[in-house]
Amino acid sequence: MIEINQVTKKFQDKKVYVTAVKHVTFTVNAGQVVGLLGENGAGKTTLLRSIATLLTPTDGSIKVGGFDTVKNPDAIKRKIGVLFGGETGLYDRLTARENLEYFATLYGLSKHETKVRIDELAKMFGMKDYMNRKVGGFSKGMRQKVAIARTLIHNPDIILFDEPTTGLDITSSNVFRQLVHQLKRDGKTIIFSSHIMEEVSLLCDSVAMMHKGELVHHGSLEDLYKSEGSRDLNYIFMSKLVRGNEHYAS
Ligand SMILES: Nc1ncnc2c1ncn2[C@@H]1O[C@H](COP(=O)(O)OP(=O)(O)O)[C@@H](O)[C@H]1O
Ligand SMILES: [Mg+2]
Repeated sequence: MIEINQVTKKFQDKKVYVTAVKHVTFTVNAGQVVGLLGENGAGKTTLLRSIATLLTPTDGSIKVGGFDTVKNPDAIKRKIGVLFGGETGLYDRLTARENLEYFATLYGLSKHETKVRIDELAKMFGMKDYMNRKVGGFSKGMRQKVAIARTLIHNPDIILFDEPTTGLDITSSNVFRQLVHQLKRDGKTIIFSSHIMEEVSLLCDSVAMMHKGELVHHGSLEDLYKSEGSRDLNYIFMSKLVRGNEHYAS
């Protein structure tokens, strides 16, 4: 479970303060897939980095699996897998297997555990044929699979993906979508940010919509479709932005 409680994050940019996240409160239950929607600059990355213990909220608090992100970051780091848009964190000169072995070492997995886990992930992601090839020569889709496998090497219960499909072609985006379905079947809790409405409507149980740092909606997709009288998430999103959060109750 992820409990975000009245989180505000301010940055000081030279002499100007930027409030990237404003009083955001919502809870994600175990096993849920949540889409974090918002335009560029809405505060999605800041919120995800805060959940991942990489940023300290200026105000408010976040608990992940019962642990506070500021007081107990190490306990949380073991439970979560994070992938931030664009950064695969992979070493081109290493093979896919060597990359995964390297990250397994960072998480303190034994040699045996590492081998079992890598075989499992290679099978799950259909990467068996290229595990022993250098990542430097991989296509974007292949790289993305290895990057996601790296995120999952320690079998985390909670996974955060920041704009996982931005800049990917259709084939690679589909790879990501299939993986989320699989992870969902395995009972993982997932938050991913996106500005692709179709992706969110296909994959998510619920959505959190952000606009200029504020949460303008959080709830199940089905409830949202019902209350808005439409299944067009793009349209709903735009109309929520126009209305802002003054109509956001609960
Ligand atoms: N390290 C930083 N220093 C100053 N401002 C930042 C920093 N990180 C993010 N911001 C600002 O915070 C706001 C939200 O950014 P971000 O969380 O990256 O939004 P999103 O991921 O939704 O595009 C933006 O105005 C951005 O410029
Ligand atoms: Mg971002």
